[in-house]
Amino acid sequence: MFRLTFFFAIAFGVSVLSAAPPTYNKDIAPILYSQCALCHRPGEVAPFSLLTYLDAAKRAPLIATVTKARIMPPWKAEPGFGAFQHERRLTAEQISLIDDWTKAGAPEGNPKDKPAVPTFADGWQGGEPSLVVKAGNGFSVPAEGPDRFQCFVLPLNLEQDSYIQTAEFRPGNRSVVHHGVIYVDETGAARRRAANSPDGSYPCFGGPGVAATGLLAGWAPGTIATAGDPQLAVPVKKGTDLVLQIHYHPSGKAETDISSVGITFSSAPPAHGRTALIMVNTNIDIAPGDAAYVSKSSLTLPRDVELSAIFPHAHWLCKDMKVDAHLPNGDIAHLIRIKDWDFNWQGSYKYEKPLALPKGTRIDMEYTFDNSDKNIRNPSKPPARVQFGEQTTDEMAVAFFTVILPTPADVAPFQRDMRLALIDSMLASGDMTALQRLPGMNGRGGQILRMFDKNGDGKLDDAERGALMDFIRSMMR
Ligand code: HEC
Repeated sequence: MFRLTFFFAIAFGVSVLSAAPPTYNKDIAPILYSQCALCHRPGEVAPFSLLTYLDAAKRAPLIATVTKARIMPPWKAEPGFGAFQHERRLTAEQISLIDDWTKAGAPEGNPKDKPAVPTFADGWQGGEPSLVVKAGNGFSVPAEGPDRFQCFVLPLNLEQDSYIQTAEFRPGNRSVVHHGVIYVDETGAARRRAANSPDGSYPCFGGPGVAATGLLAGWAPGTIATAGDPQLAVPVKKGTDLVLQIHYHPSGKAETDISSVGITFSSAPPAHGRTALIMVNTNIDIAPGDAAYVSKSSLTLPRDVELSAIFPHAHWLCKDMKVDAHLPNGDIAHLIRIKDWDFNWQGSYKYEKPLALPKGTRIDMEYTFDNSDKNIRNPSKPPARVQFGEQTTDEMAVAFFTVILPTPADVAPFQRDMRLALIDSMLASGDMTALQRLPGMNGRGGQILRMFDKNGDGKLDDAERGALMDFIRSMMR
């Protein structure tokens, strides 16, 4: 009898304990303030604020659903495939706290437990810039309709060659600006393209629409700008323009936007070289209905590098991205893995520590695309044949890396080596137009290809490609 009572007491005691539900003030507000308020506050990108008890309580079941499914907070990189700065990921414990709170009817709890509402700096996050350039003069975004992609040319009017330490994107109208990417154009091509527009801009989708010299920075909601490092400043020539691509998402109300970029120059040349390494597979040809088209390409590093960030990019059909580095000693370093790619949530992922990759490392990129009608993001209804290109209905398989080299003098030879490595990788993937991208080719690419296609099958096998690359290298010397 005694034992039975004891047993009930314990059982009862335990159930009382587990029945004390988490409360908003004590358990939930700290999670929402630290992980959600960045975007879910007035004037920010998310459609509603999550700063008060009522904001959260009336959406408790939805919050529980999207956090359990890890849709929110948005963070596409899979854990275990590269360690990044500012990772936005709830712990399993935080997710179950939210779930238990919701199941208990979202109680508010004791006001004394409530943390202070967070405050956010309004100005430039990376410090006061030396130059602020505005994008256009009030770009109109209609209330409804498809997303808009616009490239704004930002003339820097540099009187001499300079060093950009940091370029911070600042959205003008946060309710419509979905993301922004800043490119460097030393050629004037973007400026010529925008010449006849009233606001120095032109529509563009997958990229700047011109052969940009480099990619400076990417912004998506939640991006945290920093002051940058003068030792990693990017040298830019006199006459260089920036090209700012903005992705606009209609808000339900007609809106206008003037976004800006704040640039901080460094007065002295940097100690190290910073440049972009671009991997791209141009040989994409996806049949309508193909739900798992795989695009693979590889590139072998011609020099030792340090990677400080990765910016993977594709359009609407891509589902899965895998980028791995195979080191000469047999080790594999995962550079990123995204299992549910969403064009809306692209951005640059900065590694926690720069990754040192020795010469001879092979980087493998494997992207999978779903061109079936089951893919709700498919822009073509019914699905159509899709090839590489910059339009919404084209596809891309790209990875931009920010690369750090020992000295600035290493950048030019690195870029020359990489151009060759990229052409080799494009030829290997079956893109026979790759040669045309070499300067001075003047349409002779086809002729040269035929010279090296010894067996005349219209393709280059490994030996034929090797001989062609040796020939190109000797010509470039
Ligand atoms: C980086 C910005 C950002 C962060 C951080 C963020 N959200 Fe969101 N959230 C959005 C945006 C933008 C939307 C609108 C839908 C979309 O564009 O994906 C959204 C939508 C939602 C929705 C509505 C989903 C639906 O299906 O209608 C909920 C609920 C939500 N967020 C909860 C949260 C919670 C909870 C957190 C923190 C754990 C969080 N969000 C963190 C940007 C963010």
